[in-house]
Amino acid sequence: MPWKVLITARGVQQAGQQAQELLRNAGCELVFPPRFGPLKADDLIPALKSMDAVLASLDEYSPKVLTSPALAQLKIIARWGVGYDSVDLTAATRSGIVVTYTPGVLDDAVADYTFALLLSIARHVHEAQAIMQRGEWKNSWGDDVGGKTLGIIGLGRIGKAVARRAVGFNMHVLAHTPHPSPDSSGVEFVPLEKLLADSDFVSLHAALTPTTRGMIGEAQLHGMRRGAYFINTARGGLVDEAALVRALTEGWIAGAALDVFTTEPLPAQSPLRSAPNLLLSPHQSSFARGTGERVSLTAAQAIADLMKGKKPQNVLNPEVFSSPRTKVT
Ligand code: DGY
Repeated sequence: MPWKVLITARGVQQAGQQAQELLRNAGCELVFPPRFGPLKADDLIPALKSMDAVLASLDEYSPKVLTSPALAQLKIIARWGVGYDSVDLTAATRSGIVVTYTPGVLDDAVADYTFALLLSIARHVHEAQAIMQRGEWKNSWGDDVGGKTLGIIGLGRIGKAVARRAVGFNMHVLAHTPHPSPDSSGVEFVPLEKLLADSDFVSLHAALTPTTRGMIGEAQLHGMRRGAYFINTARGGLVDEAALVRALTEGWIAGAALDVFTTEPLPAQSPLRSAPNLLLSPHQSSFARGTGERVSLTAAQAIADLMKGKKPQNVLNPEVFSSPRTKVT
């Protein structure tokens, strides 16, 4: 029986032609919802009815969704991306649903984008553009990058890719991470408080878990240098956004750049939209065309493999294959 595949990840439509072909050639029927993700339970449950697979945005795969009878046929959630905080793995396993992700495919794209934000806020590139568009001609003084200290919180694959770029920019790199690895040359591992106190730029690359949620709050922002900049391309939930607005408004830090938010899309009325010295972008650090195609293909391949009875790569809940509820053999 051909599989029905729901596509909630907009990247597949916008940069995933090869992935679409791969799935269609494998005999899948592709279903595009009226609106791309992230979808909440009320939109997601009906959209998943009678689907065999979903190529997934950061939709709400909560126990409520995963135990819905509408998902009786769903065999795999293939995440378009590397973060899987939106998927309750325990509930997915209990419902016999395989969950995959795409590690290692988008590290460079996210690291490039992180550096683009860092350079932009340090050198006021976005402000210069706004000045020119207003028809004015005046300079906006920024801060040096070379020779400065970058503090990286979470030195996984993406954090390491950011560190490599920073070393190339002649920056001193500090890192705070749960599992410091010896292969991180040029990086000095320090406790979080020291990283915050000693860095000119702080960039967040931690996964969002119950332990890391809200890890950057008022105390941590107060612990940073007054002239320092904060960058987040990881997950909005890592940061107390109200505290960050106060930090920017009251000048505890010099500026910030955010690509991710607690609520996405960011509400039009969010105080972040009008906070001073804050550069915002709509969660697009992995949106580079070649990367988008590779991420889409990796996720699509996992679906095609499972459909053909082959175990996909990058399974997050391998125990699902031995569960009595498994829907695949
Ligand atoms: C990821 O890889 O998780 C990115 O945030 C895109 O979803």
